Amino acid sequence: MNKILSFLLAFFVVIQSHAQAPQISIIPQPAEVRVGEGGFLINAATSIFYDASNKEAVRAAALFNAALKRAAGFELMPIAGPSKNTIHFSIASNYNLGKEGYTISVKQDKVQISASQGAGLFYGMQSLLQLLPKEIEGSKVVNDVQWNLPVVEIRDQPRFGWRGLMFDVSRHFFTVAQVKEFIDDMARYKYNLLHFHLTDDQGWRIEIKSLPKLTEVGAWNVKKTGRFNFFTPPADDEPRNHGGFYTQEDIKEIVRYAKEQYVDVMPEIDVPGHSLAAVASYPDLSCTPGKYKVNSGDPFMDWHDDGTFTALIDNTLCPANEKVYTFLDKVFTEVAALFPFEYIHMGGDECAKTFWENNPQIMELMKREKLKDMHEVQSYFVGRVSNIINSKGKKMMGWDEILEGGSLPASAAVMSWRGTKGGIEAAKLGHEVVMSPTTHAYLDYMQTDGAIEPPVYAMLRLKKAYEFEPAPEGVDDKFIKGGQANLWTEQIYNMRHLRYMVWPRAFATAEAVWSPKSSRNWNNFVGRVEDHFKRFEVADKKYAPSMYDPLVKVKKNPKGGLLVDFDSEVDGLSIHYSFDNSFPDHHYPAYEGKSIEVPVDAAPIKLISYRNGKPIGRMMTVSIDELKKRSEKK
Ligand code: ACM
Repeated sequence: MNKILSFLLAFFVVIQSHAQAPQISIIPQPAEVRVGEGGFLINAATSIFYDASNKEAVRAAALFNAALKRAAGFELMPIAGPSKNTIHFSIASNYNLGKEGYTISVKQDKVQISASQGAGLFYGMQSLLQLLPKEIEGSKVVNDVQWNLPVVEIRDQPRFGWRGLMFDVSRHFFTVAQVKEFIDDMARYKYNLLHFHLTDDQGWRIEIKSLPKLTEVGAWNVKKTGRFNFFTPPADDEPRNHGGFYTQEDIKEIVRYAKEQYVDVMPEIDVPGHSLAAVASYPDLSCTPGKYKVNSGDPFMDWHDDGTFTALIDNTLCPANEKVYTFLDKVFTEVAALFPFEYIHMGGDECAKTFWENNPQIMELMKREKLKDMHEVQSYFVGRVSNIINSKGKKMMGWDEILEGGSLPASAAVMSWRGTKGGIEAAKLGHEVVMSPTTHAYLDYMQTDGAIEPPVYAMLRLKKAYEFEPAPEGVDDKFIKGGQANLWTEQIYNMRHLRYMVWPRAFATAEAVWSPKSSRNWNNFVGRVEDHFKRFEVADKKYAPSMYDPLVKVKKNPKGGLLVDFDSEVDGLSIHYSFDNSFPDHHYPAYEGKSIEVPVDAAPIKLISYRNGKPIGRMMTVSIDELKKRSEKK
């Protein structure tokens, strides 16, 4: 190419990039970003360079090329050495950014992604994709897009090594293909740990060859539609054909697929509570053998206001029964062989002791082992399980209840879900800890008012999720492995709603576990979330726009009647409302930050948020009776 032509081309690149003014919107926010002037335009003449003898470099380059092929209709041709108009994927030991760190250098004439190891290069590639226009997320070729990268220098590495999402496939079963989609989404946002909740009262999801009834019986319940936990109990003759399980070949495939995206898979076998599917398969494992059925979402536990609960059906394995430990030895032998990850999670949460109290076998065990109370009984069980798991060459992790009863083996790790209290206590005792508190990391909770979302008993708004801090003050950081968000699927019946529940809150968790603490900035985050919403739209993936929906706060008016206030998470919205059943457009009264008196004869309140005169939230309708009810609540 002659000099004048290449100068003109370079000039063209600059003009194009200015015209597009690409904004940098990477989630999770990288540790360091320095934006320059201009851009690098990728087109069919751009080449790609990587070490063809390095499998991981080949894969990162191939994934990048696959995205381009899908959305831009062309691939970058590999060349034998670095050159102009080239994207260079480089793995070399001298980058000093840990195994997951990377740098990206976009100049006007070349791009380089560098990392010490394959994981870093993979994350660099993910960030590079996020630097491209949103159309890169599409599955059809678009011709009218300039595939422009902004000139930028990025230096990035994660804050924590454990960046998890928990996926409950027991309450509702998700296919191998859907689990893979879940992993794809995780990897895009630099999560590296899939906590696979494989067993619970509603289904046993993993084939255990030596215990075939677990999946012949335990994987199936009765299909119900509506609000989980409120279903009518199934009749005896209703077909139990709803559910499913993963064969051992399926599990190997999931583990392999995840590993290719630098995601480890930690299995959870939840015992001794949450075990109705196991007990339905092998009733002898219960302290109260009888006839049990896998739960179908009908209530079987009484939850009290103080957080305690009473079981109406015995859903536990019996700690006083030696058959239980033989059973668990078989289970963990097969589980350990399938999952290369160093930890196995044994659950341990929410174990109802209702049927243990006064049970003769338990009384006998307490006498023999000098156990004072039910916590110590569970602690005895946890100790036995820990020995079994350790004997398979694995470390044990459990929910924070495993601290109760006081004799947790030092090697056990604790996942703190009832706030961070258990995690803090565990770290002080020298246990490794992963934080996943309900207050900030429970993705099954509502994101906004139950008037416009499937109602769940608690709420976790995006802003609160963004305030998640996995390493509390006063705790030695070296015990905090990281954090994760948990997706329980009682109310999640399909992949569309699954994504709605996960995103954008998992953007927030991704930042909590990856980005420097000092980079937290809510308004900046909201801007990037909005850019990623557009990416989800291009990809035709559902997400929750709930951050735009105001909350309705109601209190009693000292003068009589009710007062309402609206609380918005996002700045710059105006909330318009009506009390006469008509649709509040943007000329209706706007909330001005002062309590509004509810008229004596008001129709249900309707409200909706607008930005620049355009509706951005969803219209919410709350009846006056509901407002009255809420005003009674403390
Ligand atoms: C839990 O949410 N029961 C760990």
